[in-house]
Amino acid sequence: MLLELRDVHFRYHGEAPILEGFDLDIAHGEFVALLGPSGCGKSTLLNLAAGLLDPLAGEVDFGGKALTGLNRDAGYMTQGDTLLPWMTVTNNIGLPLELRNVPRGERRDKIERALKLVNLWEARDKFPSELSGGMKRRALLARSIIYDPPMLLMDEPFGALDAQMRETMHQELLDTVGRTGESVLFVTHDISESILLADRILVLGGRPLKVLEEVRIAWGKDRDLDKIRKDPEYTALETRLRDLLRAAHS
Ligand SMILES: Nc1ncnc2c1ncn2[C@@H]1O[C@H](COP(=O)(O)OP(=O)(O)OP(=O)(O)O)[C@@H](O)[C@H]1O
Ligand SMILES: [Mg+2]
Repeated sequence: MLLELRDVHFRYHGEAPILEGFDLDIAHGEFVALLGPSGCGKSTLLNLAAGLLDPLAGEVDFGGKALTGLNRDAGYMTQGDTLLPWMTVTNNIGLPLELRNVPRGERRDKIERALKLVNLWEARDKFPSELSGGMKRRALLARSIIYDPPMLLMDEPFGALDAQMRETMHQELLDTVGRTGESVLFVTHDISESILLADRILVLGGRPLKVLEEVRIAWGKDRDLDKIRKDPEYTALETRLRDLLRAAHS
């Protein structure tokens, strides 16, 4: 397993426990989507995996070792805007490479590719305050995938994108993880997106948080998204997940 949460307990100060004996396993190369009502604890799970929060009891293991401090092997695309306001788009995106002492030439090539990928080449010298909401999300996306980390933690990464951009990003993300073998833990409110991308979907709900249902998706890694959208199985999965989510809300 790449990521393991074992019997994890967590609560925010003065709040009811969010996690009580919570377990989660993400295998190497696995793409797992988390669906669940707003406020159920999805971002909290990602923060634990990123090492930004510590469990009160239990263990978070990464690559077979207990995680202590920040998880440097996980690229995290947070739900909020964490671009540094005093840096240009180019420098924000290149930050993970700089922190890892990637040589200048290699850095420049990777940044250029990432900027073009998310359609921010023209905006490369702008500062975050000059970007639209969707442009900020794309810059955050580029920053989280630029150094091919063993794991991507993505919190509603494509919510603010237009439909065309979202389709491009879906394909690009699948191509990237297919090529690199990265694992992905992906939070979304979009049922269709979870079916198109994930190997496994966890429907979460309740306080303390529980996995209400685990749905395995059988399309495999080399998937044709247009073909899947026309597959009756896709529609059946959508209906099933919609019902499960409705139950999770009640
Ligand atoms: N820093 C914090 N201090 C206190 N409570 C918090 C904090 N962060 C989150 N919470 C609470 O913990 C619960 C879980 O929050 P979390 O952000 O994990 O939910 P979520 O599933 O990601 O929701 P959403 O889909 O709206 O992003 C919520 O009730 C929230 O109010
Ligand atoms: Mg959240």
